[in-house]
Amino acid sequence: MIQWNSIVSSVFEEVKLTVSTGQVADYIPQLSGIDPEKYGLCLTPISGDQICAGDADEKFSVQSISKIYAVALAIALKGEDIWKRVGVEPSGNPFNSLVQLEYEKGIPRNPLINAGALVISDILLTYLKDPKQVFLNFVTALCGGDKIQINPAVAESEKLSGFKNASMAFFLKSFNNLDNEVQDVLDFYFFQCAIEMSCRELSQSFQLFAKGGIAPDGKRILTVSQTKRLNALMQTCGFYDESGDFAYRVGLPGKSGVGGGIVAVHPGQYSIAVWSPPLNKKGNSVKGMQTLELLTTRSGMSIF
Ligand code: DON
Repeated sequence: MIQWNSIVSSVFEEVKLTVSTGQVADYIPQLSGIDPEKYGLCLTPISGDQICAGDADEKFSVQSISKIYAVALAIALKGEDIWKRVGVEPSGNPFNSLVQLEYEKGIPRNPLINAGALVISDILLTYLKDPKQVFLNFVTALCGGDKIQINPAVAESEKLSGFKNASMAFFLKSFNNLDNEVQDVLDFYFFQCAIEMSCRELSQSFQLFAKGGIAPDGKRILTVSQTKRLNALMQTCGFYDESGDFAYRVGLPGKSGVGGGIVAVHPGQYSIAVWSPPLNKKGNSVKGMQTLELLTTRSGMSIF
């Protein structure tokens, strides 16, 4: 039996004391004011109570973590069809890179980079009457608690400054890989990135991936096979051009966001979320990675 309580608190206390070397994201102006000292952690075993520490109940901008909810919703609705328009290979490039998209003729490498997430946004826009509401309801259902909301100021801030995403969307459109208007796709993408969640909620929501596709209310959302595929995708693509390093150091499928959050999962065992805003050069939380590396090392609970 793993002594999660003592492992979580020892890792938390140790990492809290380290001086973070990263930088808070400021390319979305609304994110730049966040306190760099915020630090929270929450582990959810598949049976048993959540174990949380620090600022685990404070909501923050999940940003790219939302991409995994979007692709989960898309695959639940449309099945394997989505792979006609987006791949499942690691990109080896930054999350907002444009270069690959040109020589691969508008088919993004995977749905966890921005270009791929824009294609998923387009699929959801086409398929759903009220995609924003359905998206919020979907994430709320995975958390099994209070309604999940967006921070409209963050969505607006990104709309005003998201020139690379706009370029990417026009580029995708030029390759006929967007069915909807570019502005509508961007609007939905910025909306989904602006949802706010706490580590407790993020960790709870990833029970979906720990429990083979079952939501907190016992309803099946994904098949066992779809869950396997999404976990594989997070393992190989969840950290952009740092996915290899994350697998090497932490050894769990997961997803990061420039708000400083990381969520990871050990299928059949536990899910975990950590939040610390300063990011490394690849856009991943410095203390988040350090926390998860220590946790899997001390517990021996990585998937490898
Ligand atoms: O599109 C963007 O640039 C942001 N809304 C999300 C980027 C992000 O979180 C990358 N993750 N580490």
